[in-house]
Amino acid sequence: MPQEEGSKGRRAAMEAQDTEIMEKLKGFKNRFLIMSGKGGVGKSTIAAYLAVGLAKKDYQVGLMDVDLHGPSIPRLLGLRGNIESSGESGKGIPLKFLPNMEVMSIEPLLADKDRATIWRGPLKIGVIRQFISDIAWSNSDYLIIDCPPGTGDEPLTIAQVIPDTRAIIVTTPQEISLASVRKSINFCRQVNMEALGLIENMSGLRCPYCGKTIDLFKTDGGAVTAKRAGLSLLGSLPLEPDIVLEGDKGSIAWMDNNDLPYTRSFNKIVDTVADLTK
Ligand SMILES: Nc1ncnc2c1ncn2[C@@H]1O[C@H](COP(=O)(O)OP(=O)(O)OP(=O)(O)O)[C@@H](O)[C@H]1O
Ligand SMILES: [Mg+2]
Repeated sequence: MPQEEGSKGRRAAMEAQDTEIMEKLKGFKNRFLIMSGKGGVGKSTIAAYLAVGLAKKDYQVGLMDVDLHGPSIPRLLGLRGNIESSGESGKGIPLKFLPNMEVMSIEPLLADKDRATIWRGPLKIGVIRQFISDIAWSNSDYLIIDCPPGTGDEPLTIAQVIPDTRAIIVTTPQEISLASVRKSINFCRQVNMEALGLIENMSGLRCPYCGKTIDLFKTDGGAVTAKRAGLSLLGSLPLEPDIVLEGDKGSIAWMDNNDLPYTRSFNKIVDTVADLTK
């Protein structure tokens, strides 16, 4: 095929995909990007459980894991299985965690789950676009998107491809994490992404022996940063060893244990997000 015809064909395919993406996006009412400047602060945990919390309130929820190098959503939710394609449209069928909650991640598409994904920007952008255009998502009240840390290709692609996405920024209370939150806030300003608010995670550990709180990563740093930046603090979550154990098992049994301070704080955050976005 002559070069010019080839590039015309590619452009036409891209335009067709743009149209498909625009159509699909109409089905996602509220869109949230869970982000942070720093790794390991609990984004994926919060993204997964926020999606489940909203689904348990009877909302229709989609959870999209765009951490293409380190997907952790399927494991956190104990989801196995592959993305099958639907006979009629040929679109991929997202995994179902609950009857009203759908999940998409790169992990179920990988034959070897432990293989490293070594992709550069353009390939990642293409995959994220396909996560919208080529997946048979149901219309949903909430689309929750889990991102890798930082302000790289993934959050930028979401900002460009999914308009009106609002950021939920996750931080831990100590200064090193707060410094990177300020970068996330500036990223949002630069790409015109509204920030719904900040969640402070790993805020204090209750000693299981004496019941006193140990401020392992300090405390209240999130509240101070949110105030300075004019952002809402959506809530604070304590350090909770059970969350690590349950996350590793792919269990959400903690959600039914209201004796855990983490559960009570988390439920408040789910209520706040639902109230702010009705
Ligand atoms: N409040 C908490 N208490 C105790 N452990 C927690 C809490 N929140 C998250 N964790 C644990 O911290 C680890 C990192 O969490 P998670 O994978 O959600 O972080 P992340 O920000 O998505 O990381 P990455 O930047 O690598 O994507 C996990 O083992 C998780 O179980
Ligand atoms: Mg993560």
